[in-house]
Amino acid sequence: MELGLTGRRALVTGGTKGIGRAVVAELLGEGVSVAFCARNADDVKATEEALRPADDAPQLLGVVADVTEPDEVASLVDDAAAALGGLDILVNNAGAAHPGGFEDLTDADWQQDMDVKLFSQIRCTRAALPHLRQSAAARVVNVNAVYGKYPDPAFFATTVNRAACLNLTKALAQQFGPEGILVNSVNIGFVVTPQWENIRRRRAPDAAPEEFFAGLAEAEVPLRRFGSVQEVSGVVAFLASDRASYITGAMIDVAGGMGKYV
Ligand SMILES: NC(=O)c1ccc[n+]([C@@H]2O[C@H](COP(=O)([O-])OP(=O)(O)OC[C@H]3O[C@@H](n4cnc5c(N)ncnc54)[C@H](OP(=O)(O)O)[C@@H]3O)[C@@H](O)[C@H]2O)c1
Repeated sequence: MELGLTGRRALVTGGTKGIGRAVVAELLGEGVSVAFCARNADDVKATEEALRPADDAPQLLGVVADVTEPDEVASLVDDAAAALGGLDILVNNAGAAHPGGFEDLTDADWQQDMDVKLFSQIRCTRAALPHLRQSAAARVVNVNAVYGKYPDPAFFATTVNRAACLNLTKALAQQFGPEGILVNSVNIGFVVTPQWENIRRRRAPDAAPEEFFAGLAEAEVPLRRFGSVQEVSGVVAFLASDRASYITGAMIDVAGGMGKYV
C-alpha cells in the first residue's frame, strides 16, 4: 500500500524508547522527516545516531525536552518546525505508567500523571496548530490506552486520565475537522516496551519477563500475548497517511482484543 507520506514532516514526542522510537523509525522508512523528543539527553543522541538515514534524507532531529514543561513544549515545536520547514504530523506519544490504587495515589501523583498524559497532548497540539494549519495533510495521532474505556483500578490514574485524553481526541477532531486537521487515537493494551519492563521489576522482580508477560496476557488478552512496538507503529503511520484521509475522531484499539466494551 502506498501511504503517500514521502516528504511529510512529523514531530513524535517520547521518541527514544518503546512505541515512540518505533514510530520514528517507521515514519523515516516512509520518507517522512522526523523530529522527536525525550528528557534523557544521552538517549536522544544515541537514538539520532542509531536511526539517522544514511544520506540524511529524510531528516532526523532529536530534541531534549520534557513535555510536562510548557516552555520546553513551545521551543520543541518551534525548533522542530524550523528544522523541518513546517509540520504535517504530530504524534503525541510521550507518557509513563503511574501504577497505584486509589488510596495510594497522592495529589502530586495525580497531577504528575495528568501533566504527562493529558496536558502534554493539550500543549503540544496547541503549539503545533499554527504549523498544522499550513499543511495540506495535517494529522494528530494520540497514543492512549484501552484503560481509558475499560477502567482498571490497578492503574487508577491511567484509567481516569486516559478517558480525558480520548475525549480530547474526539473534541479536537470535531473542532478542527472543518480545517482539514485529522485527529485520531491509538489505544494500546499491553505492548512490550521499557515501560512494562519497569512494571515487571516493581511487581515481580524475580519472575522471568516471558513468564510475567505471558501470565498477564493469559488473563487479559484474547490473542494471549503482548503486542510488539511495530504492531503499533504501522497503525500510527497509516493514520498519518493519505490512506486515512476520511478518518478523524476514531479510537483504534491496538490491543489484541483486550477491553470488554463495544
Ligand atoms: N506499552 C504499553 O503497553 C502501553 C499501554 C498503554 C499506553 N501506553 C502509552 O504509550 C506511550 C508509549 O509507551 P511506551 O511503553 O513506549 O513507553 P516507554 O517505553 O517508557 O517510552 C516512553 C518514551 O517517552 C519519553 N518520555 C517519558 N516522559 C516524558 C516527558 N515528560 N517528556 C518527554 N518525553 C518523555 C521517554 O524518554 P525519557 O524518559 O528520556 O523522557 C521515552 O522515550 C505512553 O504514552 C504510554 O503511556 C503504553
